[in-house]
Order: sequence, then structure tokens, then C-alpha cells
Amino acid sequence: MTYDETGVDRTIHRLLREHPGDLGDLDQFHIGGADAVDLLIGGLALTEGDTVLDVGSGFGGPARQIARRTGNHVTGLDITPAYVTAARNLTAGSGLDDLVRFQVGDIADFAPDPPFQAAITMHVQMNIDDKTAWFSHIARCLAPGARLAVWEACGSRDLSWPMPWSLDGTDSFVVTADALHDSIEQAGFTTTEWTDETPWVQAWIAKTFADGPPAGPALPMLLHDGYTRVINYATALTDGTLEIWRGTFTRNGSSTGRA
Ligand SMILES: C[S@@+](CC[C@H](N)C(=O)[O-])C[C@H]1O[C@@H](n2cnc3c(N)ncnc32)[C@H](O)[C@@H]1O
Repeated sequence: MTYDETGVDRTIHRLLREHPGDLGDLDQFHIGGADAVDLLIGGLALTEGDTVLDVGSGFGGPARQIARRTGNHVTGLDITPAYVTAARNLTAGSGLDDLVRFQVGDIADFAPDPPFQAAITMHVQMNIDDKTAWFSHIARCLAPGARLAVWEACGSRDLSWPMPWSLDGTDSFVVTADALHDSIEQAGFTTTEWTDETPWVQAWIAKTFADGPPAGPALPMLLHDGYTRVINYATALTDGTLEIWRGTFTRNGSSTGRA
């Protein structure tokens, strides 16, 4: 099963002891690192007091990045308890605990009251078969008029395993960009932007790995078979088997609410 690493918190502690203050992109469990989160933030159109939901928040890098950049409150929701523990401890060490919180849960069972004004989800839907249901669950957590930003891998299902989101392909449900876009709209969102970011990602890969793997802490160190997963992924993105799409959407409906 994917996402069953239980020792991530211990590994992070050890890496931070060996490399004080140098987290690198260790807490960004998607292609493009913290730079990719920066590409999403503008689309959230946050104003003071808006609250943000990060669906499938992993080790919490994107949630912390949004709070750091905007000063808005962010809640991360993730189904994997060990990842939530790591995200909480990294947040405590970053001085952002007053803005960022994490909870364990499945988006299908999450019913915040009041709802959020914005959400992001990065690299989670590849594990979800029924994508319209998945994005409907997200819509249910948002006020009408709220924004959603996504950063997603699309393309062929015929991939070399393991990949970052699946060790053997049995829990992978990659679809084309058109199919993903249709699912998001069918779930109750209107498109503001739907952009193929594959060229940006290819340039990011070339720049980031120009001198080989980073010397300091890096995401693959936290994952089972991490380096093979990242190399397979970077190869599929470079040869065009996979693409990265960035989307911003508005939840259908007219009024706005406060979470
Ligand atoms: C590839 S990681 C991406 C993490 C994070 N979004 C990031 O980009 O750094 C996918 C994450 O989705 C979480 N996840 C998978 N299914 C979920 C669900 N139904 N509800 C909440 N989280 C889920 C996994 O536990 C994992 O942390």
C-alpha cells in the first residue's frame, strides 16, 4: 500500500539534526516544490480573513507556504496519521502554529461548519477513481463563490512503477487533462484557468537536478523506494508520458461565507 511510511517524523528529526534549518523541498510531496505552490497562490484570490483548506496536505509544505506568503489561516486534512504528525511537528518548529493546523481525515467524511473560502489540492486525485465524487466532497466544504486551485498529473495510465503516488499501479487512476477538467466542472465548479504547466515543470526538473540530487534533505528520503519513484516520475514528465495541469476554479453559487 502507498503512503504507509510510519517513520517519517523520526527521519525528519534526524535530517534536521544533521542539516539545521535546511528543510529544502522535503515537505513538498509533488513536482515543482515550493515554487509550484507559489504558482497556485494568486488563483486563490485571498483577502484578509479568508480561510483555506488543503485537501490531502501530506507533510504540510503547501499549507505552511500559503500561510507564510499570505497570513491567512490554513487547515490541512490528510488521511494518513503519520503524515499529519510530521506536518504538525514541522509546523510547531516553523513558528506558524497560530495560522496552520492539520487534522486526520478523509475528505469524504469532512463537513466543516462554516465552510472555507478557498481550497487547494495538489497531487491527490491520481489516487481517486471517482473524481467527480472527490471534487464534490471538496465543493461541499466550500462556500459558494470560493476558489479552488489544483496541481495535477494527467496523461497515460501506462506508467513505470513505482510512482510517487502509487507503488505498483493498483491504486493509481490517472486520466487525461480533458477528463479531469470535466470531472471538476461536473462537481460544481466553474473554470477560471486551466493551464498545461508541463514546460514549466520540465524546466524546473532540469534546473533542480542539474547537479544531481540535492545534497541536503529531500522528499525521496522520506518515502519507500523514494529515489526510484521520483526518477520514474521525472522521466515520464520529461518524455511527455505525463503532463502537469494547473487549474483555478470557482465553486458555483452566488453568496460567500466565512469558515
Ligand atoms: C502525493 S501526496 C501529496 C501531499 C501534498 N498535497 C503535497 O503536495 O505536498 C498525496 C496525499 O494525499 C493523501 N490522501 C489520499 N487520499 C486522501 C483522502 N481521501 N482524503 C485526504 N487525504 C488523502 C495521502 O495521505 C497523501 O498525504
